[in-house]
Amino acid sequence: MKRIIIIDGGPRRNMNTAKMLQRLAEGAQSVGKDIELKTIRLYDLDYKGCMSCMACKLKGKASNICRFKDALTPILEEIAQADGLVLGSPIYFGEVTGQMRAFLERLTFPWLSYNDYSLTAPKRMPVVLIETMNGTPDRNNSNGYGTMEYCITTALGRPQHIVGYNTCQVAKYDNYELGGFSEEAKRTWREAHWEEDLQKAYDAGRQMAE
Ligand SMILES: Cc1cc2nc3c(=O)[nH]c(=O)nc-3n(C[C@H](O)[C@H](O)[C@H](O)COP(=O)(O)O)c2cc1C
Repeated sequence: MKRIIIIDGGPRRNMNTAKMLQRLAEGAQSVGKDIELKTIRLYDLDYKGCMSCMACKLKGKASNICRFKDALTPILEEIAQADGLVLGSPIYFGEVTGQMRAFLERLTFPWLSYNDYSLTAPKRMPVVLIETMNGTPDRNNSNGYGTMEYCITTALGRPQHIVGYNTCQVAKYDNYELGGFSEEAKRTWREAHWEEDLQKAYDAGRQMAE
């Protein structure tokens, strides 16, 4: 049995980020019954970022799983045992969402040793990082998972990236003050790229499960 944990760091159900994660899950599921998938929507949970309680660094009791107790506790424990981790987030002001960032603080700070600055997770595993944004490959402000990507790469392994560029932010642009965007240009982009982006997510899921 392979266990894959999918973390949805976006607030909107059934929009771009959630859809890419759903397709990734379908890809993983296509491999067969021996795959256990769990999708966690961070916006449904009541939790904090790192509280700096330093419990994970206590002498004789150091832990590479966060000791602070809240809604994230069981999820962090499951990730420690998982066989694959998928993170998805829209880009807000050039970064992953605040909820994703807070989650990543809790995930990664316990990996970091202040004795020798090494980063050690309970278990290495394949990782896929998904981002969706208004930006295009040529013109974007995304710093993606930022410094957290270094922690993930060192402690879990080099992640695979999937980026959904130039996404449709709303169904009908005319209903909003979104004059900086052309609905037609968004549509044209979507027709050319969206299915391909979803396919990349599906393939990544299948590959992770295999
Ligand atoms: C608060 C906020 C900030 C955003 N900042 C950026 C940004 O800095 N760069 C960008 O390319 N897109 C930005 N966007 C657009 C979203 O990243 C994009 O619409 C994304 O695909 C939304 O994902 P969702 O459909 O899963 O909610 C922003 C959207 C919101 C709501």
